Amino acid sequence: MCGIVGYFGKRSAQEFLLEGLRRLEYRGYDSAGIALVEKGKLRVTRSVGKVSVLEDRLSGKVGTSMIGIAHTRWATHGKPSEKNAHPHTDCTKRVAVVHNGIIENYRELKETLEQQGHVFRSETDTEIIAHVLEEEMKTNTFEGAFAQTLKRLRGAYAIVAVSESSPNVMLAARLSSPLVLGIGEGEMFLASDVSALVGDVKRVVYLDDGEMVVLDVEGYVVKTLANKRQKKEEVTLEWDRSKAERGGFPHFMLKEIFEQPKSFADALRGRLIPEEGHARLGGLKAIEKRLRTIDRIIIVSCGTSYHSGLVGEYMLEEYAGIPTEVEMASEFRYRKPLLGKKTLVIAISQSGETADTLAAIREAKEKGVLTIGIVNVVGSSISRETDAGVYCHAGPEISVASTKAFTSQLAILALLSLYLGRQRGLSLVLGQRIAKELLLLPQYMERVLEHAPIIKKLAKKYAKQSHYLYLGRKYNYPNALEGALKIKEIAYVPAQGYPTGEMKHGPIALIDSSVMAIMMVPRDSVYEKNMSGMQEILARGSRVIAIGTEGDTELSQQATDTLLLPKTLEMLSPILSAIPLQLFAYYIAVERGYDIDQPRNLAKSVTVE
Ligand code: AGP
Repeated sequence: MCGIVGYFGKRSAQEFLLEGLRRLEYRGYDSAGIALVEKGKLRVTRSVGKVSVLEDRLSGKVGTSMIGIAHTRWATHGKPSEKNAHPHTDCTKRVAVVHNGIIENYRELKETLEQQGHVFRSETDTEIIAHVLEEEMKTNTFEGAFAQTLKRLRGAYAIVAVSESSPNVMLAARLSSPLVLGIGEGEMFLASDVSALVGDVKRVVYLDDGEMVVLDVEGYVVKTLANKRQKKEEVTLEWDRSKAERGGFPHFMLKEIFEQPKSFADALRGRLIPEEGHARLGGLKAIEKRLRTIDRIIIVSCGTSYHSGLVGEYMLEEYAGIPTEVEMASEFRYRKPLLGKKTLVIAISQSGETADTLAAIREAKEKGVLTIGIVNVVGSSISRETDAGVYCHAGPEISVASTKAFTSQLAILALLSLYLGRQRGLSLVLGQRIAKELLLLPQYMERVLEHAPIIKKLAKKYAKQSHYLYLGRKYNYPNALEGALKIKEIAYVPAQGYPTGEMKHGPIALIDSSVMAIMMVPRDSVYEKNMSGMQEILARGSRVIAIGTEGDTELSQQATDTLLLPKTLEMLSPILSAIPLQLFAYYIAVERGYDIDQPRNLAKSVTVE
């Protein structure tokens, strides 16, 4: 969603801020803007469209400012336009703010402010903040007024503000929307997403809800709104710039698909004890005893992370023997879930900032339930708010369409199933088998990636297809949902994911020669069932791309096109079959000429409801 960057230091603020905005482009946005404090005066420039448009607007005006804030906006209140772009200013144009999130009480605040004579120039909720600040500054310092302003806001926010009244001060705060402070040598940075800071800072401070930070020439101070100083930990940032760059690939998505053998191995690194058939999960050490008593698991997540949760459900029930349910976080948070003392709630999230997943975890915690996170972004809100967790270590995932985070989440879920299973009587032999096979997967993934040229050809062949049906069963049913999601989000092709066994209960009525089905038919415990499902579809004239197991000539003879993948354990097969689905969606989007890393209407991390 929207992106924030702030700079306070010794070099050209404009230069860093534009670079920071470019690094956040992947999050999705429709307009951009920047406010620089130059010789005590504010200079605000905004534009609709890409950061390059903003840059063109600024060209020739490099500026001497070493303090500034910038923003990429993803429209919520008010259409994408220059006047709705951030930064927003007050009536006097002496205060500028950038904001991520939603101010829920903006209407009532606006009414009051209008009665006080304030004139609004945009349709946004953000502009309200600048005017409340202006009003509060009539009787208070910039810092005091900022705290007072925050107390009047309801909703979610990450806000950064600058003012001509205190030109050497920058203020920021967060509530339910991420904000991180980066510390460099003689310079400080603010960003809504740590990937904007990678390469520039080595240490970061993650702000918590209800905190504000004051940056000035002395350094930074984190406080509560009641002016109580907070002691914060400075965390070392381990990602480096090369991991957040395209590295010769045309798109981040393709780069990230090809990174999977490595990211999968990184997720396993140091966590498997093959001879003991066990997993060592340091992040769960503190709650090891409590985990032994767990008798039910609920997984909460969204989108691709929801799909990995569905695979996890099969793994955890089969190998750990714990009843498991998976629920979309957006639904979980609004029903009245019945959670027992021995229930474990697992949040899965690449970003660790997804608003619905965060709210679901808060709901679970309120009920006193043990929570753990399977999260990629270190230090993110979900990783900090859960009782314990296991990081995915997939490195920065920049592409809006999640790929490597998905397979890394599956790695962690397999480790967790092994860990909980061995706590509960999963045999040593079976444990060893799973551990051994997990270690082989990176090389199998390399082999799957060798199919890329064939998948590219298939995408050329089927580029004009107007609808897809993705089918799979048992461990590969969630992948049917995931394959359909991938092609919808980046290639904008309507697609439906369905369990193969459910076809007869309705959807088979859709099948005729215009339909294209992508079916997962690995040699597993439901192979025969899948084969007959495929026959039924072929018999009604549909074409089928079948994803099966190496050596399956029977499948190759029957399906229209076939992709055969290395044989692995049934529980791990979705880790391999996910890759051709990702590649197929990618190449179809290339054929159709879409902006793959920044698909329309989408944002990388959905930090508002
Ligand atoms: C995946 O391709 C999507 N862009 C999206 O569904 C994503 O998985 C979802 O928004 C959840 O994000 P999270 O993993 O960061 O919580």
